[in-house]
Amino acid sequence: MTAAPVFDQKFRDQLDSLFLWRRDVRHFRRDPVPENVLDHMLALTCVTPSVGLSQPWRFIRVDAPTRRAAVKAEFAERNAEALAAQSESDSAAYARLKLAGLDEAPHHIAVFCDPDPAQGRGLGRMTMPETVQWSAVMAIHSFWLAAQSHNIGLGWVSILDPEHMRLLLDVPPEWRFMAYLCVGYPEEEHNTPELERRGWEQRASERHHWIIR
Ligand SMILES: Cc1cc2nc3c(=O)[nH]c(=O)nc-3n(C[C@H](O)[C@H](O)[C@H](O)COP(=O)(O)O)c2cc1C
Repeated sequence: MTAAPVFDQKFRDQLDSLFLWRRDVRHFRRDPVPENVLDHMLALTCVTPSVGLSQPWRFIRVDAPTRRAAVKAEFAERNAEALAAQSESDSAAYARLKLAGLDEAPHHIAVFCDPDPAQGRGLGRMTMPETVQWSAVMAIHSFWLAAQSHNIGLGWVSILDPEHMRLLLDVPPEWRFMAYLCVGYPEEEHNTPELERRGWEQRASERHHWIIR
């Protein structure tokens, strides 16, 4: 058995920085991430907690240019719809946002969730079957932090139709689409969200927790 590590203050300070500097990235350099680094990040993601140890996440690397082109077309359609749905006062601001880095990001990863995996034998999800999807979301967050630890950026694209994505990527019919991730080195690093920098929304400063006494 290996001894448990003792995390010290220096590590905690670095972890704080990792949390504070993790960004949703929309502007990527085009140079690829080394394969061994990407592999390591994906392997580390597998230790994410999951309901009943079901590990329901399915990360699919999308390398084929034809599939990428189809995803870009899907994004363009959904984004046009989202623009049209904006109120008159928001539509100019929405149009100025860069909501995907699909053209520049060297790596594309689609994440699906198997909603009823054999693994885990159903443990813990009888009353809340959605815990399977929550587990997949946690895996995405692990991957996001693992990427940031290498100064690699990730952009989560969700303005996509889940059913279209399932068909476009030809995955089993029962899988649920969770996210489309653009991955690569960011053009710039920031410690504030892009949506804040562009004046769309502000991070709330108050704490989002309460105490019942
Ligand atoms: C579930 C989820 C879905 C998201 N989908 C999108 C998206 O479709 N387009 C986008 O520009 N950002 C998307 N984001 C990124 C958020 O806009 C971003 O996390 C938020 O503005 C805070 O910025 P930060 O991640 O850099 O702290 C998504 C984030 C999450 C967690």
